[in-house]
Amino acid sequence: MRIGFYTFAILLLFVTFVVAMGSEEILDQRPVIGILAGPTMKPYIPKGSCGLPASYVKWTEASGARVVPVPYNLAKNELLFILHRVNGVLLPGGPGKPQIKPDTDYMATVRYILDFALESNRVGRPFALHATCLGFEALSVIISDDNNVLFETDAANMTSRLIDVNMAKSKMLSDPWLQEKYTQHDIAPNYHHYGVRPHVFETGPWKDYMLVATEKDLSGNTFVAVFEHKSFPIFATQFHPEKPAFEWGPVYSATSHQMIAVEAGQRLANNLVSYSRTSLNRFESPELLRQLLIYNYNPLFTYLDTYHFEQTYFFNNSNWIAKL
Ligand SMILES: *[C@@H]1O[C@H](CO)[C@@H](O)[C@H](O)[C@H]1NC(C)=O
Ligand SMILES: *[C@@H]1O[C@H](CO)[C@@H](O)[C@H](O)[C@H]1NC(C)=O
Repeated sequence: MRIGFYTFAILLLFVTFVVAMGSEEILDQRPVIGILAGPTMKPYIPKGSCGLPASYVKWTEASGARVVPVPYNLAKNELLFILHRVNGVLLPGGPGKPQIKPDTDYMATVRYILDFALESNRVGRPFALHATCLGFEALSVIISDDNNVLFETDAANMTSRLIDVNMAKSKMLSDPWLQEKYTQHDIAPNYHHYGVRPHVFETGPWKDYMLVATEKDLSGNTFVAVFEHKSFPIFATQFHPEKPAFEWGPVYSATSHQMIAVEAGQRLANNLVSYSRTSLNRFESPELLRQLLIYNYNPLFTYLDTYHFEQTYFFNNSNWIAKL
């Protein structure tokens, strides 16, 4: 009896030690984030079929991750190849209204990435996902399985503050500094025509997700500003945490560039990259990773063009496929 107890206690201590050491060791201190490159707007199609504003790349890199672009029109086996190797994915903003049934290539890819993230986390392989603006709207339509989840908002050029709903329970916004800054200061930049009403969280398809914060548009409509998965590192912001530090164009002139706006945005990138460090995914060789990194491409200065972003990367998925 006695010996059994001590043996058990020592074993428990040993197991605790191994688990603690293990979790320290498996943190990936060289995380890689895939960023979805969406369809290019018409005047830019000759430059590449996919585009990616550089602000999302810089936002991610500044938190200590490297970036692999993920063209929205990759074949599924190529997409899966990337998803098995990156530590997480960022779904950036962009033009358009996400619609399902039939899915466009863009929506099919977002759906595939969400399903991958859910399944990976379900089987104990952490996989981080952050969606912003168009990415947020696409996730919302897919989660609801309903195009009508989106309503027209009056928030195409607006910076405002968040209204706390469940920040204390949130993984992303549990930091009291972030809560104070985002609820007391107008530092959340919004550039969207569509939004999601908070009541969706009372419906079945959203049972695994938590409403974290809302905002009001210029006509007083309340829309969802932040949601996240209740158990997994899956986060979505309707507003743009990357813009305060990296976008200066006239179309984005409502953006606050105050230090607190910049820092709040950085902390949201830290959240994505911190969770991505818990992923077990790895590239099998530095050479393979090197071939896929964003550093293989040069962004264009698109500030005064119809693209509006300070700098934009362009890709053709055909360039990509040859590399795999
Ligand atoms: C994409 O393809 C077009 C047409 O072949 C070409 O002009 C353009 O330079 C390519 N873009 C990139 C980024 O390679
Ligand atoms: C956007 O909002 C800013 C500040 O509120 C304003 O100066 C600017 O003219 C607006 N831009 C557009 C395109 O509406």
